[in-house]
Amino acid sequence: MLTVKKVLGGAILAMGLSGYAAAHGHCGETALHEDMENLKTELKSLSFDLRGKDAAAASERVDVIISLLKDSREETPFKFTKEGLTGEALATEMAEYQSLMDETIEVFVSVDKAIEANDMGEAGSLLREVGNLRKKGHSAFKASC
Ligand code: HEM
Repeated sequence: MLTVKKVLGGAILAMGLSGYAAAHGHCGETALHEDMENLKTELKSLSFDLRGKDAAAASERVDVIISLLKDSREETPFKFTKEGLTGEALATEMAEYQSLMDETIEVFVSVDKAIEANDMGEAGSLLREVGNLRKKGHSAFKASC
C-alpha cells in the first residue's frame, strides 16, 4: 500500500536526484541511471518475494518500484542530452519516453492488484510483460556509450 510517508519519501528522493542530474551529464552518471540500477535491484527482490508467496513484502516492493518509475519519468534520458535535443524535438521525444514509462507504471499497478488478490502467478506473468517494456525502452531511449 502507498503510505503518505512513502509518497513523501519518493518526492524527496526525486528532488535530490534531479539536482544530481543537473550537475552530471555523463553516461552512467545520470539520476535516471541511478534510478534504473535501483529498479533492477528492487525487481529482483520482488521476484524473490513472489516466489516466497510473501504478499506483504511484494506489495511494499511494488510501491517502491512505482515511486522509482514515477521519478524516472521526470528525468531526461542521457541520449537526448547527447544528441543535443531542444525545444519541439526534445518535447516530442520526452512525450514518447513518458508514455512508455506510463505504460510500465500501469503494469505495476496491475501487479499490485494481482498481489492483493493473492494471485502470484498472474503477478509473475505481468512481470514478463515488464521485461518486454524494458527492452522496448532501452532500445529506443538508451544512449550507446
Ligand atoms: C522496469 C524494468 C527496467 C529495468 C529493471 C531497467 C534497468 C536499467 C538499468 C540497470 C540501466 C543501467 C544499466 C544499463 O545501461 O543497462 C538502465 C538504463 C536505462 N533505462 Fe532502464 N530499466 C527498465 C525499464 C526501462 C523503461 C521502461 C525505460 C523507458 C521508458 C527505460 C529507459 C532507460 C534509459 C533511457 C536508460 C539509460 C540511462 C540514461 O539515459 O541516463 N528503462 N535501465
